[in-house]
Amino acid sequence: MAKAEHRFGQRDGSDQNFDYMFKLLIIGNSSVGKTSFLFRYADDSFSNSFVSTVGIDFKVKTVYRNDKRVKLQIWDTAGQERYRTITTAYYRGAMGFILMYDITNEESFNAVQDWATQIKTYSWDNAQVILVGNKCDMDDERVVPVEKGKHLADQLGFEYYEASAKENINVRQVFERLVDIICVKMSERVDADPSMVTGAKTTRLNDNPPQLPQNCC
Ligand code: GTP
Ligand code: MG
Repeated sequence: MAKAEHRFGQRDGSDQNFDYMFKLLIIGNSSVGKTSFLFRYADDSFSNSFVSTVGIDFKVKTVYRNDKRVKLQIWDTAGQERYRTITTAYYRGAMGFILMYDITNEESFNAVQDWATQIKTYSWDNAQVILVGNKCDMDDERVVPVEKGKHLADQLGFEYYEASAKENINVRQVFERLVDIICVKMSERVDADPSMVTGAKTTRLNDNPPQLPQNCC
């Protein structure tokens, strides 16, 4: 279950010191590297040992995009099937997903379609998704070619990256890209339907799809 909140990069340490808040989830089969990816991003740390996540946990990180402070609440879910009921309950209200597989593990790649279906079933319609093929440092043991990953991402309408939590390849880039595409999507929605603008300056997390700020990022 969620442990104590970790705070990063905030200007004055105040929990409320942000313009927008985005809830993000990392999902995918067990052992693909979800926890490692989050620790690399939030703490710049990596461990070779595997401690499978029990249930769900989260970290908080604040990033600056176009002069706006965006607080990211990043949920790290357990990949093991037995936690599925718990983890899918957290999909609600998520604005972005990192759907991860391991380029050295075909089963984790074959499961991507099922994970995408879970997102469709349990999350907000406009949630943005990036498909990440992790462990690209292990090219010798690769079983999923880059083209296959790209092709599947195209089919699913997701963006695609290969990354390595171990070697710190494309970790920050994936999070930043996800924040950017969420911002673009939100702006499009406001443009398409100005009545959706609430006038509220902040987008806060709740169980419903987010209220749209007037000037997203
Ligand atoms: P669950 O919590 O069970 O869902 O697994 P997880 O997806 O969180 O996997 P975790 O991050 O615990 O990583 C599993 C194993 O893969 C660990 O031994 C990590 O050290 C290793 N690992 C994670 N990312 C990488 C990577 O980019 N490269 C390599 N070589 N190993 C990695
Ligand atoms: Mg984990």
